[in-house]
Amino acid sequence: MNKHTLRDGNEIPQLGLGTYPMTDAQAEVAVSEAIVRGYRLIDTAVNYENETGVGRGVLRSGTDRGDIFVQSKLPGRDHGYEGAMRSIEGTLERMGLDYLDAYLIHWPNPSQNLYVDTWRALIKLQEEGTVKSIGVSNFLPEHIDRLVEETGVTPAINQIELHPYSQKKDWAAYNTDHAILTQCWSPLGRKTDMLKNAVLAGIAAEVGKSVAQVILRWEVQNSYLPIPKSSNTERMEANLDVFNWELTDDQMDAITALEAGVGRGFDPNTHEEM
Ligand code: A2P
Repeated sequence: MNKHTLRDGNEIPQLGLGTYPMTDAQAEVAVSEAIVRGYRLIDTAVNYENETGVGRGVLRSGTDRGDIFVQSKLPGRDHGYEGAMRSIEGTLERMGLDYLDAYLIHWPNPSQNLYVDTWRALIKLQEEGTVKSIGVSNFLPEHIDRLVEETGVTPAINQIELHPYSQKKDWAAYNTDHAILTQCWSPLGRKTDMLKNAVLAGIAAEVGKSVAQVILRWEVQNSYLPIPKSSNTERMEANLDVFNWELTDDQMDAITALEAGVGRGFDPNTHEEM
């Protein structure tokens, strides 16, 4: 599996398995099946309520823990220094792990005004080795600026909703300019009709791939890290087959022209995920 190097020097696979909205039982099977098929990055969150299943899936795969990149996310209700320190303990216990490869703050929840204190806890957890890399999710540039101003530590990762119908160009460019890896949630635009787009279907026919593969390749080729969710082993395998072929510049541009401002479109300043 091809890898990115994060700004802290750690390596991360260039594509991962999303696990929302899997139950524990579904996640255990899907994670194990995915790892056996070559996935090396698994994404979850406290709020997905499947960390137990994800942890079991990692174990069930029979693959060395050290070969798998496991990341989870801290929920809004656990913001604050002490809250974060407690939250990670629960995550590790549910997952049956003694460290995470990456730990992200799920949402900034600005109304609580605790994300800087939360970030200080993540910095401490990284220093202790409890988590190898630290990052954020759904953080706007203004939120990241504040983290950096108050702590001096820039997140290694920012996971945001990103796909051809909702490209967040300025936001993703901010990440890139600060050497923050952009991970894409909902990389296939679940809840949109993007998989039926005629332009994408045309490109898929040209390259002999599926529309989903073309979308994921566009994300990978832009140096973003997509984490498509699938519980279906055939689609899992297909979603991984986006590395040994390329889109031409014209094909990339045609996909970039599909920006539609359509997606979940949550505003991180008002969206409160507890
Ligand atoms: P399934 O689990 O049945 O494969 P996102 O990651 O953008 O949220 O989207 C995931 C959704 O897209 C899931 O509903 C998943 O369903 C479906 N999906 C995943 N991979 C593919 C694919 N290659 N082609 C079509 N649908 C897919």
